[in-house]
Amino acid sequence: MSVLGIDIGNENSVVATIEKGAINIVRNDLSERLTPTLVGFTEKERLIGDNALAKVKSNFKNTCRNIKNLIGKIGTNLDEDDLELNESYGDLVACEYNYLGYMVGYKNEVINISAVRVLSTLLHFLIKLAEKYVGKECSEIVLAYPPTYTNSQKECLLVATKLINIKALRFISDNTAVALDYGMYRMREFKENQGVVVAFVNIGYANSCICIARFYTKKCEILSDLADCTLGGRNIDNEIIKYINNLFIDSYKINALYKNYPTQMCEMGNGKLNKYLDLNNKDLSKIDNKIRVKLQDVAVKTKKILSANNETSIHVECLYEDYDCQGSINRETYENICSNFFLTKLKTLLDKSIATSKVKVEEIQSIEILGGTTRVPFIQRFLVEYFNKPLSKTLVADESVARGCLLSAAMLSKHYKVKEYECIEKIQHPISVQWYNMNEVPNATTTLNNADVNNDNGTTTTTTTTNTTTNTNTTTNTPVSVKTKVHKLYTCDSLKKKVNKIVIPEKGSIKVTAFYEENPDLPTNCVKELSSCILKVNDKHDKIVESHVMTSFSHYDTFTFLGANTVSKTVIKTKDERKKMDEKNEGEKNTTSAATTGTGTGTSADDHLKNEKQNEGEKSEANNTTSATSTDGNTTTDSAGGESKFTNENHNHSKNKNELKKGEEGKVQTCYTSIPVELLPAPGTYSAKDIYTFSEAEINMQHSDTIEAERLKHINELETIIYETRDRMNSMYTEFATDEEKNKVLLKLDDIENFIYDNMDENKNAFIKKKEEI
Ligand SMILES: Nc1ncnc2c1ncn2[C@@H]1O[C@H](COP(=O)(O)OP(=O)(O)OP(=O)(O)O)[C@@H](O)[C@H]1O
Ligand SMILES: [Mg+2]
Repeated sequence: MSVLGIDIGNENSVVATIEKGAINIVRNDLSERLTPTLVGFTEKERLIGDNALAKVKSNFKNTCRNIKNLIGKIGTNLDEDDLELNESYGDLVACEYNYLGYMVGYKNEVINISAVRVLSTLLHFLIKLAEKYVGKECSEIVLAYPPTYTNSQKECLLVATKLINIKALRFISDNTAVALDYGMYRMREFKENQGVVVAFVNIGYANSCICIARFYTKKCEILSDLADCTLGGRNIDNEIIKYINNLFIDSYKINALYKNYPTQMCEMGNGKLNKYLDLNNKDLSKIDNKIRVKLQDVAVKTKKILSANNETSIHVECLYEDYDCQGSINRETYENICSNFFLTKLKTLLDKSIATSKVKVEEIQSIEILGGTTRVPFIQRFLVEYFNKPLSKTLVADESVARGCLLSAAMLSKHYKVKEYECIEKIQHPISVQWYNMNEVPNATTTLNNADVNNDNGTTTTTTTTNTTTNTNTTTNTPVSVKTKVHKLYTCDSLKKKVNKIVIPEKGSIKVTAFYEENPDLPTNCVKELSSCILKVNDKHDKIVESHVMTSFSHYDTFTFLGANTVSKTVIKTKDERKKMDEKNEGEKNTTSAATTGTGTGTSADDHLKNEKQNEGEKSEANNTTSATSTDGNTTTDSAGGESKFTNENHNHSKNKNELKKGEEGKVQTCYTSIPVELLPAPGTYSAKDIYTFSEAEINMQHSDTIEAERLKHINELETIIYETRDRMNSMYTEFATDEEKNKVLLKLDDIENFIYDNMDENKNAFIKKKEEI
C-alpha cells in the first residue's frame, strides 16, 4: 500500500509517492515526471496525458483542457468574454447541476461530459501510472486545489474521487502544500517562538498563487493564501500567438485566426485571445482553432527560447493553406507586448497578498519562486524589484505542490510514521449563517437569500423572502415573508480548524443555512450556499433556553455542520421544595394509579424520575445523547449514551440531590443534550444516484479503453511479426527454403499486411488468428 500526493495543474500533473522513506516523483510511460493534463475523446477510445497531447493538433475539438479551472464552475449565464470559454478549443457546455463540461465526439456520438467526470478519468489514469511505477496498490491520495476554489468546487473534487472509488485523505490548497514542503525540511533552521516570514510565488499555466507564511520549528502560519486564476503562462502565449498572426497579416493580408477579417490586426496587450473577434457577429468572426493550435505550439517554443536567449526566429509551416509564416522576435519586443498587462495584474495580486498577511515587505526574509512561468526573465526581474531581495529557487519548481500533498498524505495515513508539521490556515472567504423558524412558514423547504449581514459579530433580524428550491442552483420563486436571523460566522481572519457555535434562542423546526457573504474576491456566478440543516427543538420543553449548532471544516476544507445541542437550565431545588414536589407527585401518582389499573407503577424513585422527565418535556429527546450536566454553569462533565444513560444519570442525580452540599441549592444546573441535525444538500450537491451512474459510466469507458488498448497491442504485434518474418525470409531463413517456398511466405505476409489495413476496426480475435497463421 502506498500513498500519493497529486498536483493537477492546468497544463501538467505531477504525482509524488514514497519509496524507501524518500519522496519520489512518478515517471509516466514516456519516462517524464510531468504528465499533460489532457483527456481526449476519439471514435474508439479516450486518450489521456501524453497520448492526448500527441493527437491534440488533429483532435483539439475533443480534447479537454484547463480541467482544473473548470471544476465546479457554473456554466450558465457565463459572460461571453469569460477567459475559460475563450481558452477552450472545443465547445464548453453546462452539464449536471449546471457545472461546466465539454461537448466532445466519442464513439461516433456527441456527448456532454462535466469537468468533474473528466478529472476522475485523469485521476484514475495517474493513480494507475503510479501503481505501475511503484509496483504497489495506491489507494490513498491527497489532492491540491487552487486557493480560488469555493466550497462547491472542493465538493466537486471530492465527487471526482468518489467516481473512481479512491480514498481522498485530504485536500489542501496549492499554497499550503508548498509551505509544507518548505517547512518540513527546514524545521531545524527555524526557532520555536521567533518566526521566519517567507513569500512563495507560484505562477503556472493558468493560475498565479501567492502565499506568505511564517515558519516556526514545528508549525507554520499561512498569513495569506491567494491566487488569480486568470493570470498565467497562457496569457503570455496568447500575446505571442497574436503577434505571429499579425506578422502573417502584414505579409499576406490574410488573418489566419479570424478568416473573415483579413486586414484586422489582433489587439495586443491584454493577454486574451477571444473566441470571437467581434462579439456582435459571431458567425463571421469565430476563431479558427486549427490555426490557434498550430500557433500555440510555436508560441510556447518561442516563449521558452526567449527565457534564455535575446532573439529567436519564428517559422510556421503552412500556417494557412500553403503559406508559411516567417519572422523573428527579440526579447525587447516580447517584453514590450507581454510585460505590461502581466505585471500590472501580478502587482495587484502581490499587493493584496501583502495587505492580507499584515506583514511589511521588508519583514519577508525569503522569496521562493516556483511554477513554470516564473522562468520568464521579466517576471523574475519584477519580483526582485518588488521585494527588493534576490529570489530563492530552493524548491523544485514543478514538483513542490505534489511533494507537499505527499507529506500531508503520509502524515494522515496510518501506513507511515512521519514527523508532524502543522500548517495553520485561515478562511478564504467570509461565511455567515442565517436561520429561521420553519414553524412560522408552513410547508417550507426553503432557501433564503437577500439577507442583510450585520457588521459586528451579533445577530441581525431581517425580513426576507424564501424560495422553494430544486436541487440545482436555480430557484423557483414562491415568496413568503419570514423573519430570518443572520449571524457572521467566519471572517477572513478565522482559523480553519476553529469550531464555531451558532446560538439559536428559539424552539421549533429551525432551518440553518451557511453561505458566502458577498465579497469581490468570490468568483462571479458561483454557488454561494454552502450547506443547510434543520434541527428540531422541542417547543414543549420549557427548560430549554437555547440550542447550539456547531460548525467547522472537514478534511476536504469544506464547510460542515458538526452537530447540535439543546441547552436546558434548571434551578436546583431546596430540600423543602423537593419534599413538597415529592408529596405532590405522590398524590398525583395515587390518582393516576387509581384511574389506570393494570399499568405498572414502579418504585417511588422511578416515579420521581418519570415525573421530572415529564416536567422537563424531555421525553421525545430521551433517545438522544445527553452531553453534559453542570451546576452553576461552571463545571461540565461530558457523558454520552442513550436513554438508559440519561435515566441513570438522573437517577444518580436525584440521589445526589438528597446529599446536596450546603449552598448548592438554588444554583442553576445546565444540561446539554445533543439533538440530531438533518443535513440538506446545498445546491449543486451530487446525489448518490448520480455518483453511482457516473461511476458506472466511467467503469464502462475504462473497460472499453482496455479492450481498445488490447486490440491495438495485437495489431502492433502482428505488424512486428510481419516485418520480422519478412526480414528473416530474406536473411537467416534463406538457405532453409526454396525460392518458391520463400515467395509463398512473402505473399502470405503481404496478404496479412493488407488485411490489417482493410480491417482496422476488426476485434482483437481477427488479429490473434492472423498471428497464429504466420
Ligand atoms: N522556460 C520557460 N520559460 C517560460 N515559460 C515556461 C518555461 N517552462 C515552462 N513554462 C510555462 O510554464 C507554464 C506551466 O507551468 P506549470 O507546470 O507550473 O503549470 P501548471 O501547474 O500546469 O498550471 P497551474 O498551476 O496554472 O494550474 C506553461 O505556461 C509553460 O509554457
Ligand atoms: Mg501549478
